[in-house]
Amino acid sequence: LFSIPAPTRHHREIRTFNIRITPKKICASIMFASRKAIANEMISSSKNAPLQRFVTRSFSSAETFEKVGVVGLGLMGHGICQVAATSYVHSSVVAFEPDQSFLDKGRSRIESSVSKMVSKGKLSKEDADAALNKINFTTDISALQDADFVIEAVIEDLDLKRDLYEKLGSLCQPSTIFASNTSSLSITEMAHMSGRPEQFVGVHFFNPVQIMKLVEVASTEFTSPDVFNKAYEWVNHIGKVPVKCHDTPGFIVNRLLIPYLAQSMRLVDRKDASVHDIDISMQLGAGHPMGPLHLADYVGLDTCYYILKGWTEQYPNEPSFVLPECLIEKVNQGDFGRKSGRGFYYWDGDKRGEPV
Ligand code: 3HC
Repeated sequence: LFSIPAPTRHHREIRTFNIRITPKKICASIMFASRKAIANEMISSSKNAPLQRFVTRSFSSAETFEKVGVVGLGLMGHGICQVAATSYVHSSVVAFEPDQSFLDKGRSRIESSVSKMVSKGKLSKEDADAALNKINFTTDISALQDADFVIEAVIEDLDLKRDLYEKLGSLCQPSTIFASNTSSLSITEMAHMSGRPEQFVGVHFFNPVQIMKLVEVASTEFTSPDVFNKAYEWVNHIGKVPVKCHDTPGFIVNRLLIPYLAQSMRLVDRKDASVHDIDISMQLGAGHPMGPLHLADYVGLDTCYYILKGWTEQYPNEPSFVLPECLIEKVNQGDFGRKSGRGFYYWDGDKRGEPV
């Protein structure tokens, strides 16, 4: 039923250190590798959320954070807050948003996503209520004071982030670890703003956070290995799949994805193909779940614009960083895609309509 991996760890140790390996040690290694393989198989094949959580926690070596804070309840922040709460590994989750109307919007997004999961049988009503009760929705930043891990997911404005990190740096306990969900700004720069560069990592989620499994965990040259490992393990604990990367523009996914989205917009600029045909081509010809223009609308054209603008200014000689004309035009008109109701397509809430 499950494939049993070879005990490669011991083979490597024998070659590298010439250490004495007893049959008992080899057996233990095979047992551990096999149990982990079984766990991974269960995680990927099961749609049962509590079972996945149980398996993930049982095979994870480190303790995780008690109290987690999320700053910013927008498209990404509300999802991060939700997955932290529905992972049931934290005693409480603080959802901080300074503006009451944004806080209310984030809360209703979480409630509607959770009730969608209940109606589809992915979450029981009791689990959903327990998760929602765990979240402290607040406009008061001092609620983050005793958080063990704070994830920032505010808009990509470095001045705003500077103000926030300076406040958090003086408010939170010396042991609090900070993480930014930035998709394009320098983690190193933010780490310095916080006044605790060794306790700062990038944790980059994908949209929709509730569904997308990957989280990129980014370190800087200042991040302490212990802090990095804690953040990496936390991602495992909340049921996501972490990958390691360095603080580079776009990390792994966006470094590949954003230039691809920009190239699809360049096709529009040159009138090489229609919006419909570009999208359907990548869906049916390359097996992507969404075409690139649909995805750009889904992620937010303003987000794509600010990422590309920053990169083209910072790396003018990098040929894959371009700012397409149609993107500039749409963003100047306030057409941000799904969030504003119009982009490359018309949108009715989360429902995509016809191309504009
Ligand atoms: N909350 C809860 N459940 C949700 C949800 C949400 N917010 N959004 C979708 N779902 C569920 C749906 O209910 C559905 O559940 P079911 O399988 O039980 O019926 C399931 O997810 C699939 O959704 P849909 O049937 O509505 O639609 P699709 O099958 O087309 O899937 C999708 C939607 C998962 C978004 C898929 O189209 C997809 O994978 N698209 C690509 C997304 C992507 O590439 N994201 C990365 C963007 S880049 C990024 O985020 C980085 C940033 O820095 C720019």
